[in-house]
Amino acid sequence: SFLGIDLGTSGLRALLVDGDGRPVGATERHYPVHHPHSGWSEQDPADWIAALEGAVADLRDRHPEFAALRGIGVAGHMHGATLLDAADRVIRPCILWNDTRSHAEAARLDATPGFRDLSGNIVFPGFTAPKLEWLRAHEPENHARTARVLLPAAFLNLYLTGDHVSDMSDAAGTSWLDTGARGWSDMLLKAGHMRRDQMPRLVEGSAPAGPLRAGLAQAWGLSRPVVVAGGAGDNAAAACGIGAMREGQGFVSLGTSGVLVAARDGYHPAPATALHTFCHAVPDTWYQMGVMLSATDSLNWLARITGTRPAELTGGLGDTLQQPGAVRFLPYLSGERTPHNDAAIRGAFTGLGSETTRDDLTRAVLEGVAFGLRDSHEALKATGARLERMMAIGGGARSRYWLRVIATTLDVTLALPADGEFGAALGAARLGMAAAGAGRAEDIMTAPDVVEEIAPDAALRGRFDAAYEAFRAAYPAIRGVQ
Ligand code: XUL
Repeated sequence: SFLGIDLGTSGLRALLVDGDGRPVGATERHYPVHHPHSGWSEQDPADWIAALEGAVADLRDRHPEFAALRGIGVAGHMHGATLLDAADRVIRPCILWNDTRSHAEAARLDATPGFRDLSGNIVFPGFTAPKLEWLRAHEPENHARTARVLLPAAFLNLYLTGDHVSDMSDAAGTSWLDTGARGWSDMLLKAGHMRRDQMPRLVEGSAPAGPLRAGLAQAWGLSRPVVVAGGAGDNAAAACGIGAMREGQGFVSLGTSGVLVAARDGYHPAPATALHTFCHAVPDTWYQMGVMLSATDSLNWLARITGTRPAELTGGLGDTLQQPGAVRFLPYLSGERTPHNDAAIRGAFTGLGSETTRDDLTRAVLEGVAFGLRDSHEALKATGARLERMMAIGGGARSRYWLRVIATTLDVTLALPADGEFGAALGAARLGMAAAGAGRAEDIMTAPDVVEEIAPDAALRGRFDAAYEAFRAAYPAIRGVQ
């Protein structure tokens, strides 16, 4: 059997799969995020270890297959800075991906000539390098004691193997990696006042990071050798779980935030569009991702202020796709990443009339989120990505109406996976399989069964194109008045 671990922001999910990669059982443990100041977001790495040990104990109890464990993969929330001293002791709480304290440091690094060229990305405030610059200025003793910086997944790799190892998909989110060359960059490290000896060793996500420590194997009742994979950042692992591995394969995730992910056979950075360009968890492959911050969050907001539930709002629209109405919604409730990289912008409704109904507002919200996703899709297409079909996942994918809006706006067919496992925990387990030699990555990282396909509505494409143009024109206009 194989174990996939998804170290998430709110909790850890552990998934046991059998020798063929079929799910056997899963369990979750939760832990807090601490916000000691506004904009700060921290976690205690000891909580991750406790969650891992609790989850493993649970799986061991419930599933005899655990005793035949051969491989483990870890996926983690990206960009977090876990600081270790020379004896591998944690120096301070981990500063997380959604912590914005280092925005000034991020802007300064981002403006450094050559930075975007090597890292392939804007230096976002959540990325790792600006966190260490903040530490240097505000906690100089902690900075001086930092012998190693590990991403959250690499910290679990250290616990599992005793070695400092990160995979490249996660390392690409630090702003210290030459993302095209898949190696640490001396220039980027120097600009961030860091040294190579503070970095973990790099391996591909699907390659072995090392064997499971003997002490842990014994404690977990395992007598045969177990391989720990390089692992992955959570988005790359999710791509492995849903089979988005090669050019043309991708998915749209309608969660709190909306994410459009495309696997790429080559390296085609486009930092000016605020696309993320990261290494994939398998060799010679990258992925690109557009992120909009408020997807189902926009619909949840409308439901909240109208005193109802999101399913009630979308249910009111029926099943037949209508052309966009006069009301536009700009979905910038928490600012926007792709394509604007604008933390200050806020949302708007335009075109309201005394005849406007709640259904009109609901349609405008669904359309506005679809237009935001199209911004990411257009940015992806400009780099040469071609996605004619995408898997659709996340809570928002329960609304057929919304899926029709998105398929027509993006002019792509959306495929709905059958119920089951296809997330980051499955991707992590699959990396464990590949690292343990259970098969070739391309044979292991397959797509789930599809239960339904939603095609674009050809008759309404022109109308949605026109409404998208109006949506695009609205951003600079509202920017000017906020
Ligand atoms: C990616 C990102 C998040 C985190 C947390 O750039 O910030 O997706 O990985 O899940």
